[in-house]
Amino acid sequence: MSDFVNNFWSNYIAAGTVLSILGCMLLLWLTARKRVPSDADNTTGHVWDEDLREANNPLPMWWIGLFVLTIFFAVGYLVVFPGLGSFSGQANWSTRSEYDEDVAKATAALAPVYASYAGMTMEDIAREPKAMAIGERLFMNNCSQCHGSDARGSKGFPNLTDKDWLHGGTPEKIAESITKGRIGTMPPMAAAVGTQDDVKNLANYVLSLSGAPHDSVRAGLGKSKFTVCAACHGIGGVGNQAVGAPNLSDKIWLHGYGEAAIVQIVNAGRHSAMPAQEGRLTEAQIKLLASYVWGLSNPATGP
Ligand code: HEC
Ligand code: HEC
Repeated sequence: MSDFVNNFWSNYIAAGTVLSILGCMLLLWLTARKRVPSDADNTTGHVWDEDLREANNPLPMWWIGLFVLTIFFAVGYLVVFPGLGSFSGQANWSTRSEYDEDVAKATAALAPVYASYAGMTMEDIAREPKAMAIGERLFMNNCSQCHGSDARGSKGFPNLTDKDWLHGGTPEKIAESITKGRIGTMPPMAAAVGTQDDVKNLANYVLSLSGAPHDSVRAGLGKSKFTVCAACHGIGGVGNQAVGAPNLSDKIWLHGYGEAAIVQIVNAGRHSAMPAQEGRLTEAQIKLLASYVWGLSNPATGP
């Protein structure tokens, strides 16, 4: 019972289940006892639509037998399998343990496949069509929901097919990103910059770094404010992979392009998280995934 602070809901559900089964028994027993007085011709005496009569035949025995069986089945089921509140059942079966067993079986069955890549470098694996096919499957199942099925990402989720890396684009750095996860935190910076007019000037300076359309008077006024940003984004806004600070001098925008987007992130800050995969995926799977991701931006040249 990790989900709730006490056993109330567990008991509530268990009581409801037991009461329904008892209710079924009671219903069966009462109806079996009740005799409806019938006339000589075995009808109840009710007549509808002039001549429609209700015969008083008992339920067929096989029907009652089935009813009794379902009750026994329900009791037996609840003893063996989880169903009574949080009682886990005599068999100790759970969907979670069944899933874990299936995963363990699949991992064991696939071990020889992965073993053949154990001695290879990630650069070499990225040139193996079969390994890349496995990598693509793994990516579809585990990564595409955030990074997109083509790995090109979307707003807030980095594109993994270009050469612009927040945290580093060597196979080892990519494997590290996948294994340990990544956090990208930009604190709200408006207070350190000054007034909202200063923030706007600074945003125009940031736009000027990549040659994007900007107001050059404002950019000139904002330039000196960039010192507080350079601590993370580097002099000239070239980025810093050690803290995951994006390059602001290229044309790639993770959180949207333009003055409004920059003003927004300076005012509100930003916290992004890439979930760690160790524990979810095996080391061998992560190695293949890292090779696949690296291969996306480092396609083979020549035959
Ligand atoms: C819940 C969403 C989510 C899932 C699932 C996810 N990622 Fe990410 N990933 C992110 C976010 C967000 C970032 C950016 C973190 C940051 O801003 O610093 C990221 C960053 C990365 C990076 C670093 C990119 C860079 O530029 O340095 C790599 C590599 C990566 N993910 C690969 C993967 C792979 C491979 C998988 C599948 C095992 C995966 N991700 C699954 C959200 C996700
Ligand atoms: C403490 C380090 C830090 C400081 C200081 C900092 N940033 Fe950031 N900034 C980041 C990180 C990390 C990200 C990436 C957030 C993410 O991973 O989602 C980021 C993202 C951004 C982005 C979005 C880039 C994109 O590609 O969409 C802009 C714009 C930006 N910062 C501008 C600034 C400006 C302007 C300043 C100065 C006022 C500043 N930052 C100060 C760490 C910092």
